[in-house]
Amino acid sequence: MKSNLFFILLLLCISMGCSDPTSDTTTGFHYDIIPQVQELEKQEGHFKLDDITKIFIQPDVNEIRSFVAKQLSDYLKAAGVEKCPVNVAQNSTSKGIFLSINPNIEAREGYNLTVSRDKIELEAKQPKGLFYGIQTLRQLIQNGKIPAVAIKDAPRFPYRGMHLDVCRHFFPVEFVKKYIDQLAFHKINNFHWHLTEDQGWRIEIKQYPKLQSIASKRKETLIGHYSDQPQRYDGKEYGGYYTQEEVKEVIQYAKERFINIIPEIEMPGHSLAALSAYPELACTEGPFEAATKWGIFEDVYCPKEETFTFLENVLQEVMDLFPSKYIHIGGDECPKKRWEESAFCQQLIKKEGLKDEHELQSYFIQRIEKFVNSKGRIIIGWDEILEGGLAPNAVVMSWRGMKGGIAAAKEKHQVIMSPTTHCYFDYYQSKSEDEPIAIGGFTPLEKVYEFEPIPDELTPDEHQYILGAQANLWTEYIPTPEHAEYMVFPRLCALSEVIWSPKEKRSWDDFTKRLNTHLKRLDEMNINYAKHLFDVKADIKNEENGNLKIGLSKNAADYDIYYTLDGNEPTSNSTKYTAPIPLDKSSTLIAKTIHKTKDVNTNPFNLSFQKHLAVGKKISIAEAASDRYPGLQNATTLINGMDGGATFNAEQWLGFDGGNCHATIDLGEEKAISNVQIGTFKGNDAWIYLPSAIRVLASSDGKSFKEVKNLDRAAIESAGEDIAIAMNTNSQFLKVEIDNFGEIPAGKAGAGHKAWLFVDEIIVE
Ligand code: ACM
Repeated sequence: MKSNLFFILLLLCISMGCSDPTSDTTTGFHYDIIPQVQELEKQEGHFKLDDITKIFIQPDVNEIRSFVAKQLSDYLKAAGVEKCPVNVAQNSTSKGIFLSINPNIEAREGYNLTVSRDKIELEAKQPKGLFYGIQTLRQLIQNGKIPAVAIKDAPRFPYRGMHLDVCRHFFPVEFVKKYIDQLAFHKINNFHWHLTEDQGWRIEIKQYPKLQSIASKRKETLIGHYSDQPQRYDGKEYGGYYTQEEVKEVIQYAKERFINIIPEIEMPGHSLAALSAYPELACTEGPFEAATKWGIFEDVYCPKEETFTFLENVLQEVMDLFPSKYIHIGGDECPKKRWEESAFCQQLIKKEGLKDEHELQSYFIQRIEKFVNSKGRIIIGWDEILEGGLAPNAVVMSWRGMKGGIAAAKEKHQVIMSPTTHCYFDYYQSKSEDEPIAIGGFTPLEKVYEFEPIPDELTPDEHQYILGAQANLWTEYIPTPEHAEYMVFPRLCALSEVIWSPKEKRSWDDFTKRLNTHLKRLDEMNINYAKHLFDVKADIKNEENGNLKIGLSKNAADYDIYYTLDGNEPTSNSTKYTAPIPLDKSSTLIAKTIHKTKDVNTNPFNLSFQKHLAVGKKISIAEAASDRYPGLQNATTLINGMDGGATFNAEQWLGFDGGNCHATIDLGEEKAISNVQIGTFKGNDAWIYLPSAIRVLASSDGKSFKEVKNLDRAAIESAGEDIAIAMNTNSQFLKVEIDNFGEIPAGKAGAGHKAWLFVDEIIVE
């Protein structure tokens, strides 16, 4: 039905003579391919697809006949070519599409594609190269024609990955297949299927039926964000798992699209669902329940013999199903509390001559690695597997930034880069207040596009250890397929270019131009992508005097930007943006792209500027914020007149990992101060606590300070996140000393660790 609809649209388009704004003016065609190809030479003329087009394959390799040529035939059908027979022929004079294997092509996944008036020739070293050439060909079809062109292409990295967490929320087989189709379309070759978690076990293991009957279910699910207080639950049982038959079906589906599936079986942490079914695998007695909220849980596998037997049996069934060379064993976020308290673990540490619980984790992973290696497979683990000693053959997936990946590459281990900063597609992609609730962070499309998987810290010789990169989709806040698509697209389009295309060919301006065309393809394929490409982008400059200058820009050609300064949503009757907007007093700027002719719903950009006494003045802090949350302008972020907002704009926050925020502000001259207001953040499940104490001190010379006010823990708790401190002082210098909460108390997430302190603005009035 969909292909017929597409055909009708295509015909309509031909009869109406649709013009494409991005088309090449000399040929009338566009060459908007994503991910960008290595070399492309435009040529005269075009190949017209019609009902007599044939596909010729040479040689008759089964993989080519049954997957590649068949899929090409299906794709052509979707583009309106009703019949496209597959022929085996060495040479032919008839019009057609010729697929052949050419062993002289150097790149393992490379291909050459030549389109002329009566022939399309596609050659590759291997069938998968042909498959990638076909993905390129699909993108060149325009109104039943393919422009003449010569393309030479091959990927930059051998590992191009995309992940899906099916545990926090479960996704049906049909959606997993649609997801795989999209990965293939973007030339991704590894699908990382995250199958086990605290909140649910999602793969049938025949030897352990309680994984299906118990571990696949949770009693209920948290509603809203986990930092919301009080926490609320939906009261509904939630569950699901894939049978082994379904898993086989998905593996075959992926194989036909040249995608390897890497299953992840998490250990030793994130294992609460398994413990709910088999409590004997824990260090304490239980009982346990699959988690109903998100986070990190202290009950983890105990390194007992029966645990290893269980995990080896599970892994054996998993390896019997999945042909993947790589098996992901997790290894991240494993609290050591239960091991510290367990007489068995302490005994084991002594017996094995281990230093501590980190080395015990290493012992755990190395035992599993030995087992997996004995079956001819290789383990991948999250970068925590570096702590306490890396297993000898392990591949490291670097997620807590690039540091783990750098350390592993320096130890000559293979690495897949997947840092939260650029590759976490569960993070916010826009600062719009209308954005659906997300876990946090901020990873807009531009940020994904500027990702560079090879860090400067590595020598040219060490580059070989970076296999490639991967984006992750954790689904705590992503309950439906439509929402998953919204988070993944078009960020995956940007990532595909990072990992496939030559680095020197990457151009943001050119990418956004091609993306305009590409989004129409996603429309045809019924993908619910995010429309931030049409958003206003802001370049906020802090002037010397503390005023702001806001430059606005957009990617979309058919739109203009309009704005207001009175808090109202702009319309085409508002002020049209032409030059950077100066803000010299407290104001609310709202800006929006508006289509020149059509009514299109776009997201407004919203900025609240509060010009208080400290804005534009000098500030220093005694200890730097964590490099994970340094703020856009480091300490100056605290007095730039902008807060972190309701949707956690990470650029406006300073985060202190166990440390204090002790700031000294120089107002330039003596001022009468009546109020100091401090913006903080409370998210106890994420280890973020309100301060334990605050002192404000004043000075006229910057040397001798006198305490003006102090707040204790009780006063801060009753004030909440925005802490206003009234005073009456005349001074030029202020010290605002905000003390970290200290150690997280027993019974809370992260107990025993030091808390995080977050501060976004110190308002001085
Ligand atoms: C992870 O995000 N915990 C790997």
